[in-house]
Amino acid sequence: MDVFGIEGPVRLSGSVTINGSKNATLPIMAAAILAAGKSVLSAVPHLSDISVCGQLLGRLGCKLSRGSNGNLCIDSTVIDNPVGEYEIVRRMRAGICILGPLLARCERAEVSMPGGCAIGDRPINIHIRGLRELGAKIHLKNGYIIAEASKGLKGKDIFMGGPFGSTVLGTANVLMAATLAKGKTIIESAACEPEIADLANCLNKMGAKITGIGSPRLTVEGVRELRPAEHRVIPDRIEAGTFMVAAAITAGKLHLHNCRLDDMMAVVDKLRNVGVTIDAAGDGCVVTRTGPIKPGDITTQPYPGFPTDLQAQFMALLSLAEGNSIIIEKVFPDRFMHVAELNRMAANLRKEGPTVIVAGVKKLIAAPVMASDLRASAALVLAGLAAEGTTAVSRVYHIDRGYEKIEERLNPVGAKITRESD
Ligand code: EPZ
Repeated sequence: MDVFGIEGPVRLSGSVTINGSKNATLPIMAAAILAAGKSVLSAVPHLSDISVCGQLLGRLGCKLSRGSNGNLCIDSTVIDNPVGEYEIVRRMRAGICILGPLLARCERAEVSMPGGCAIGDRPINIHIRGLRELGAKIHLKNGYIIAEASKGLKGKDIFMGGPFGSTVLGTANVLMAATLAKGKTIIESAACEPEIADLANCLNKMGAKITGIGSPRLTVEGVRELRPAEHRVIPDRIEAGTFMVAAAITAGKLHLHNCRLDDMMAVVDKLRNVGVTIDAAGDGCVVTRTGPIKPGDITTQPYPGFPTDLQAQFMALLSLAEGNSIIIEKVFPDRFMHVAELNRMAANLRKEGPTVIVAGVKKLIAAPVMASDLRASAALVLAGLAAEGTTAVSRVYHIDRGYEKIEERLNPVGAKITRESD
C-alpha cells in the first residue's frame, strides 16, 4: 500500500484543470446497460472506482475499452450474466446502481448488498422501495438482492424521500429503470445533484423522455428501447471544492480550469464567508486567500445544500480558523473518521454526535496519519500541505479512488508530496 510524504507548510500557486466527475461517470456507465450497443463517454477520469465499475460491467457481459483520446467505450450488446458480485460491489458501493438498468434490460438481476463503509451504513431500502413501486419483485438472499420483473416494469408515481432527504444513487436506479417502464413515472423528492442531472441528460440523448431535470420532481415517459449515446461527463465539483480548499488552507492562489461554479454555490458561499476570494475566470475561477481564515458554521445537506463530500476538507481548513466553528453532518452522521487523525496533527476538534466543534489553532503539526475513506483522506492531504513538518498519510489507495494522481497535480503548483510503497 502506498504512503504519501507531505512536506509543509507550502503555499500553492498556479493552474489546475479539474477532471470529469467520478459521481457522474459511475451511474452513466451503468446507464450503458440500458441500450445494446457501443456508448462512448468522454472526460472520464482515470480512477480506481471507475476501473472497478468497468470490471463490474465486464462481468455482466459488456466489453470496455479506453481510446487513445481517453474516451471510455462500453459495448453492452451482450448482457448474459445480470449479476453484481459481492467481491466487486463491496469494493465500490456505487455498484448498486446497476440494479435498475439490469431490471429494465434483462427483467432480472442479482446484485450484492453494498454493506457498510467508513462513512456509515449504506442502506438501500429506498432503492428497493422505488423499484418495487415500478413492479419489480425483490427479495434478499445470502446478502444479495434478487430482483425480477418478468412482466416488465410499469410507470408509477413514487416518493423517494428518506430520513436524510433524497438519495443520489437511489434516484439514479429508479430513474434508469423508469426510462423503459410502460407508461409515466413521477419521481418525487428526487436527488437534484448535478450528477443526476448529467445522468438524465445522457439518458435523454439515448432516447429517454425525462423532464424536470435538476428539480426534485422528475417525470419519465417510458419508451420501448434506448440507443447507445456519446456523452461528455460534467466536471467534478467535489474535486474542484477540494482544490479550492487547497488554495485556501495554504494561503495560496489557484486558477481552476473546467470548474462549474454554478454547481458549487453553497461551497463558494461558505468559502467566501471564511475569508476566501473566489472570482469567476474563463472556464473556471481563481481562488485566493490572503487574510486570516474566519470561523464558520457548516451543515451538510442534499444538493443544493453544502455537500457532505466536502465536509472533511472544510474541517481541515476551519481547524486553522481564528475562532471556533461548528460542523453538523446531516447526510452521513458518522462521517467523522478524519476527526481523530486531524487531532493527531494538533487540530482541536470535539465530536458531539453528528456535530463537531472546531476550535481554531494557530498551526497544525505534521504526524503519521491514516486514510480511512476517500474524502477524509483528501482532508489529511490538505492538512499536510499546511502543517509544519512532513506528514505521512498511509492507505493512499483511498485517495486514488476519487482523485487522479493528486500528487502529480498538486506538486506542479507548489506542493511537496512524495509517494512511497510501504
Ligand atoms: C452518493 O452516494 C455519492 N456517491 C456519495 O459520494 C455522496 O456522499 C452521497 O451520494 C451523498 O451526496 C456516488 O454518487 C457514487 P445517498 P449514495 O443514497 O447515493 C440514506 C464520494 O465520496 N439512504 O444519497 O450512496 C443514506 O444512508 C461518495 O464520492 C437511505 O436511508 O448516497 C444517507 O444517509 C461518498 N436509504 C443518505 O440517505 C437508501 O435507500 C444519502 O445517501 C439510500 C440512502
